Amino acid sequence: MRILTIIALLCFATLAPAATLTLDTGKGMQRLTTAQLLARPDVRIVDVPGDVSYHAAMRYRAVPLKALLPGIDPAAHLQFVALDGFAAELPGSLVTGQGAQGAEAWLAIEPPDAPWPALSKDKPGAGPFYLVWLHPEASHIGPEQWPYQIAAVRVLADPATRFPKMRPAADLPPDAPARRGFAVFQRNCLSCHTLNGQGDARLGPDLNIPHSPTDYLREDMLRTLVRNPQSLRQWPQAKMPGFSPDTLSDHDLDDLITYLKHMAAHRPAPTPTPTR
Ligand code: HEC
Repeated sequence: MRILTIIALLCFATLAPAATLTLDTGKGMQRLTTAQLLARPDVRIVDVPGDVSYHAAMRYRAVPLKALLPGIDPAAHLQFVALDGFAAELPGSLVTGQGAQGAEAWLAIEPPDAPWPALSKDKPGAGPFYLVWLHPEASHIGPEQWPYQIAAVRVLADPATRFPKMRPAADLPPDAPARRGFAVFQRNCLSCHTLNGQGDARLGPDLNIPHSPTDYLREDMLRTLVRNPQSLRQWPQAKMPGFSPDTLSDHDLDDLITYLKHMAAHRPAPTPTPTR
C-alpha cells in the first residue's frame, strides 16, 4: 500500500497539472484544456532553434496562433496574460501573418506526460502555454514578445485607445521622438509596468506616478538600468531583464527616454489622499 502511494506521488510529481487556456476574442470567451488543444488536427511539432526563454534549441507541440483566432482584426491587439501578472501585448497584424516573409506565432502546449524543464534554478517551466516564434527576426520580435506561463489570450483595442493617459500630447507631430518612444515603451516595458496608473501588468512599479525615473535618476544611470538593471542596483529577487542593443537600439532608448520625460510633464493631478 505504502509503495503504491509512493508510486502515485512520484507520478503526480512528474506530471504537469491539467491546465486551461482562456481565449477571449472580444466576441466570445472560450476555455480550452491542454487535452483539447493537443487533440486539434493542426497541432505540429515545431523546432525553435533560438528559444528566447530557454536560451537553447527547443522542440514543442504547438498550434498556429492564428488558427485559434480566426477572423482577428489586424488592427486589434493581442494580450497574453501570464500566471504571474505579466501581460505582453502584440499587434494583431503580427499574428495574422504577412505571408511567407513574416515571423510565425505558435502556441506551444505543455504535454502533461512530458513537462517542460524549469526556466532556471528558481523558476518553474514555461508551461502550461508559451508563445514561440519561427523566424522572429523577420518581424523584429523582441524577447518581451515570447510570453510564457500563459493563462489567457485576449483580443483588445490597441493600448493607446485603452490607456489614453499614457498617450503623448495630441499636438505632437506624428514623427515626434516622444511618439516613437511610446511605441518602444509598448513593445518593451508595458508588459510589466503601468504608466500614469494605466496598463494591465502589475510586475514593476508605475513609471510616472508618483515620480518619473527621469526625475530622480541621472540620465546615464537610467540608461544603465535599462541595459542592465543589476549593474545599477543588485539584489537576488530582482525581476527586471536587461535590454541589449540588439533588442533596443541606442536610438530606441533615446526615444524611450524622450517619451518618459514628456510624460513626466503630463502627469494627471494626484487624487487627494483621504483625510480622516
Ligand atoms: C519582465 C518585466 C519587466 C520589464 C519588461 C521591464 N521592467 Fe522595469 N522593472 C521591473 C521590475 C519587477 C522592477 C522592480 C525592480 C526589479 O525587481 O527588478 C522594475 C524596475 C524598473 C525601474 C526602477 C524603478 C525604481 O525607481 O525602482 C525602472 C526605471 C524601469 N523598471 C524601467 C523600465 C523600462 C524603461 C522598461 C522597458 C524598456 C522596463 N522597465 C521593462 C520589471 C520589468
